[in-house]
Amino acid sequence: MIRQISIGSLSLCLSLHIGAHSPAPIKLEFSEDQLQEELQFSQSVSKQLASSLKQTLMDAIKHGGLSGGIEQCRIVAPNISARLQKQHPSKLISAGRTSLKIRNPNNQATPWQEIQLRDFDQSSSLGHKPAYRYRFVNLNGRYALEYMSPIPTQGLCLNCHGEQLSPEVLDTLKTLYPNDQAQGYRAGDIRGAFIIRSWLDESMNEKNRH
Ligand code: HEC
Repeated sequence: MIRQISIGSLSLCLSLHIGAHSPAPIKLEFSEDQLQEELQFSQSVSKQLASSLKQTLMDAIKHGGLSGGIEQCRIVAPNISARLQKQHPSKLISAGRTSLKIRNPNNQATPWQEIQLRDFDQSSSLGHKPAYRYRFVNLNGRYALEYMSPIPTQGLCLNCHGEQLSPEVLDTLKTLYPNDQAQGYRAGDIRGAFIIRSWLDESMNEKNRH
């Protein structure tokens, strides 16, 4: 089966930068298999990001306690994303995290991401396990897949994102993240999402270049 998707003004970032009118709608053509391949790539990057972050967090807490964990997380989280990008230089655009209540201001959700995060919360509050989301974006004339997968709050996370934080954690957070909003979570809440942006395979892009 061949899918055809019209892309209108999805290139929000691009049009904001150039300040121009939205590009004319363009069609992307691809098969179900191609789409699955693209999604699998995003899924595997998101899993790698999750496991590297968790491992780093646990090592840091073991060596430096929760404060040490916070400090490490601050330095290491962006580094892990950069390392993943280097591993897939021509494919991966970025791998990061976002949330409705952010700790690091650089993780602010875009309007589209905010809508998905609200949906994740809603579906989780109804007792469902929210599924991933994706959309196609046009970045400077090339097409990319933007993929979001929900991050549930686990027991470990409550030490730094929960309702009752230790004085030590509160102190460190106050110093490093004076505008922290990422507290008050309970186990099972959706803490945020991984955001993976990757270039679509050339064959999907080329069809649109005539
Ligand atoms: C030792 C403290 C600590 C623990 C435990 C912890 N985090 Fe965090 N978390 C942080 C810090 C610090 C940041 C900000 C990182 C940065 O500056 O990029 C953060 C950022 C995040 C973000 C990015 C969005 C934002 O708020 O900026 C998500 C999502 C997140 N954490 C999820 C989790 C999850 C899920 C767990 C449990 C598996 C967890 N965290 C455990 C300290 C912690």
